[in-house]
Amino acid sequence: MPRNPMVARTVPALRRALEGLRARKASVALVPTMGALHDGHVSLVRQARKRAGKVVVSIFVNPTQFAPTEDFGSYPRTWKADLEKLAAERVELIWHPDVKTMYPEGFATRISPEGPAVAGLEDRFRPHFFGGVATVVGKLFTQVRPDIAVFGEKDFQQLRVVTQMARDLDLGVRVIGSKTVRERDGLAMSSRNVYLSAEQRRVAPTLHKAMKASAARIRAGEEIAAALAAGEEMIRSAGFALDYLEARHAETLAPIASLGEGPIRMLVAAKLGTTRLIDNIGV
Ligand code: PAF
Repeated sequence: MPRNPMVARTVPALRRALEGLRARKASVALVPTMGALHDGHVSLVRQARKRAGKVVVSIFVNPTQFAPTEDFGSYPRTWKADLEKLAAERVELIWHPDVKTMYPEGFATRISPEGPAVAGLEDRFRPHFFGGVATVVGKLFTQVRPDIAVFGEKDFQQLRVVTQMARDLDLGVRVIGSKTVRERDGLAMSSRNVYLSAEQRRVAPTLHKAMKASAARIRAGEEIAAALAAGEEMIRSAGFALDYLEARHAETLAPIASLGEGPIRMLVAAKLGTTRLIDNIGV
């Protein structure tokens, strides 16, 4: 049976555990998560394992990246199953602070990212989100001081934001993006997929199908706007409330008018009932 990872719940305990891990100058990879781990997270852990001697996974449902109307209270918390998954991957350390440890009484400092964080994608619909993510990831980086950190490409704008932040603030960590893991029918794995009813789950892969269809049209030479309009129609007629389907420059996330200005990343966000799904693919 695999041995359970060490679990640190306070900053001094984390520091002690990290001293032990680094004793033989091992490199450290951090995989930041909010728990409710699925195969997508497992693939991040495996990427981390390939690139570093020791793997630390943080599990913290970060209240500052949820708006009051969002699902912070009901976000799935599956500690026992998470622990089993991380033990099976032989993760060395889990950093599992509570809210008071991360945001003690009187906490008054926030990171306010710009550039990719104000690209007019997720930020348009969740204006609180990237400030919360940047602040918590900034804290996780300074607490763990990893050599590398692995994030999923599924949250593509988030990946760009933390990459830019690590560079801008000289945080000394290399941010690695890891490919989105999909169900057999194309739906991107997400902790929020558990909210979908059976009927919604049947419809959900349309997001990926529509992006693939629009990407194929762009590659075949169709105007980007027309290719996106066809994808939008497919998504809406499947029953989604569409927030956006956009083609952006894959590095800067700036709007893009033609394939020649690429590389292009297509990004989508849409709601099925109360569940909001996001996804993206390279064109
Ligand atoms: O992607 C997530 O799970 C979260 O946004 C992160 C990066 C762990 C920050 O809370």
